Amino acid sequence: MSTRPYIVGNWKMNGTRALLAEARAIDRSAARYPGIQVALAPPATLIAALREAVSAIGVGGQDCHAEAKGAFTGDIAAVQLKDAGADFVIVGHSERRAGHGESDAIVKAKAEAALECGLGVILCVGESLAERDGGHAETIVARQIDGSLPQGDAATAGVPERLAVAYEPVWAIGTGRVAAVEDVVAMHAVLRERLIAAYGDAGKDVRILYGGSVNASNAAALLEAEGVGGALVGGASLTAEAFLPIVAAAGDEPVD
Ligand code: PGA
Repeated sequence: MSTRPYIVGNWKMNGTRALLAEARAIDRSAARYPGIQVALAPPATLIAALREAVSAIGVGGQDCHAEAKGAFTGDIAAVQLKDAGADFVIVGHSERRAGHGESDAIVKAKAEAALECGLGVILCVGESLAERDGGHAETIVARQIDGSLPQGDAATAGVPERLAVAYEPVWAIGTGRVAAVEDVVAMHAVLRERLIAAYGDAGKDVRILYGGSVNASNAAALLEAEGVGGALVGGASLTAEAFLPIVAAAGDEPVD
C-alpha cells in the first residue's frame, strides 16, 4: 500500500511544448522528495513528450473513453493513454461532469476501463455551491461516489495502490475560494466510509485528495488535516514556482 502523500497537477487545457520546461523543473525538485508521490496530468497532446522529459514524477491523462476503441471521434481510450506513456488518468472531474454531461455511470465505466488496462485512476467527486448552501453536500457526494466507484474483480484488483479519490467542491475550483478545513475533514470521512462499504479493508488505504484552489499558502493546513492524503492542483500546477511549495508542504524533508 502507498501511504505517501500524492500531489497531482492538473494542467487542464493549458500548455504547449513550451510548458515542458516547467515540467522538467518540477521533476528535478520532486526527485528530492522521495516520500511524496508527485504527478502531472497535461493535455493529451503533451503526454508522450512529458513522459520523455521527466523521470521522478507520474504522468497522467485528464479523461478517457470507457470503450477500448471504435467510432468515437475526438475521444481517447485508456489503452491509448497508456500507450502514449501515461501512468494514470483523472476521471469524473466536475468540468467533465458538467461540461460534457458525464453521469456517475459513465465515470464508473471510464474508471473500470482505465484500471483494467493497467492505469491508475483519480476519481473526482464534489458538490455545487447550491448543494452546499442547501445543506446537501454530504448526501450528494456520497451518492456520486457510490455511483462512480469502479466495481468488478478485474478493475478492483490492487485498488488501494491504483485508485485515489479527489474531493473537489465545484465552487472551490479555480475560484480562489478554498473549502474550510473542517468541511474537508468531514467530507473525507464520508468518502472513507463509502470506500470501506465498497471495498472492505482495501477501502481504508485508498488515498483521498482535496482539490479546489490549493496554493502555496493554504496547502500545509489542508495536507495536515485528518484524512487528507494529497492534493489535486489546477492553476497552481502550471509553474514550478507555484507548484513546488505545495509539494514541499506535504511534509517531507528534501534529500540533497
Ligand atoms: P484549481 O483546480 O486548483 O485551479 O482550483 C483544481 C482542479 O480542478 O483539479
